[in-house]
Amino acid sequence: MEVIVTNNYEELSRKAAEIIDSQLKKEPASVLGLATGSTPLGTYKELVKSYEKGQTDYSGVSTLNLDEYVGLSPDHHQSYRCFMDKHFFDLINIPKENTYVPDGRAEDLAEESSRYEQIIDEIGPPDLQLLGIGENGHIGFNEPGTSFESGTHVVELTPSTRQANARFFDTMEEVPTYAVTMGIHSIHKSKRIILLASGKHKAEAIRQLIYGEEDEQFPASSLKRHPDLTLIVDQEAYALVNEKG
Ligand code: PGA
Repeated sequence: MEVIVTNNYEELSRKAAEIIDSQLKKEPASVLGLATGSTPLGTYKELVKSYEKGQTDYSGVSTLNLDEYVGLSPDHHQSYRCFMDKHFFDLINIPKENTYVPDGRAEDLAEESSRYEQIIDEIGPPDLQLLGIGENGHIGFNEPGTSFESGTHVVELTPSTRQANARFFDTMEEVPTYAVTMGIHSIHKSKRIILLASGKHKAEAIRQLIYGEEDEQFPASSLKRHPDLTLIVDQEAYALVNEKG
């Protein structure tokens, strides 16, 4: 595990974007695994900046997103498809048909999960997967207790995750209860994983990730066995690491 500690969120975003930009320069037909949430927003901004400067070209790139809420249409302002379009895909020259997000409105969600896993295998595996981390250690929507062997599947969101995401919805009732997410095994297929964490509310999760044992109650701990994992964390998120583990 490589750990890069930055002074602040802006530097974290620049660092993550730099790694992705150099991946694209090395391999113009790269497959990127992407994440939603607040943390990667700065990274997408930086990636758009370098695209606008003519430094990158997404015409041959494919992307696979981690997850999607069940029940939200792709144009619902809180769907992850909409998030990705707005913050990234609509701002670069990626062909939309090369951008994959699970379909949270599929009638048969088990079938959709297998279909998505098959897409990961056909299009991917990603050269690089961008990840955030939940305060409870979740990655994607893989909540504590998820099997490390899991493929793409449907999950019921925990009350704490629904609460954390409620800020994006008008009322708590509107926050979806289920999601389709790449499983932990699916995430591990990626050749390289870059996990981002910013802010003191992530400090305990980062401490546990670095010092803790592999434990299905802390999904991110599975990443310790991935051969190419880079953590990019700001000082606030790293604050508990140098204290006694
Ligand atoms: P955040 O979410 O980036 O909005 O903090 C990360 C996550 O819950 O995976």
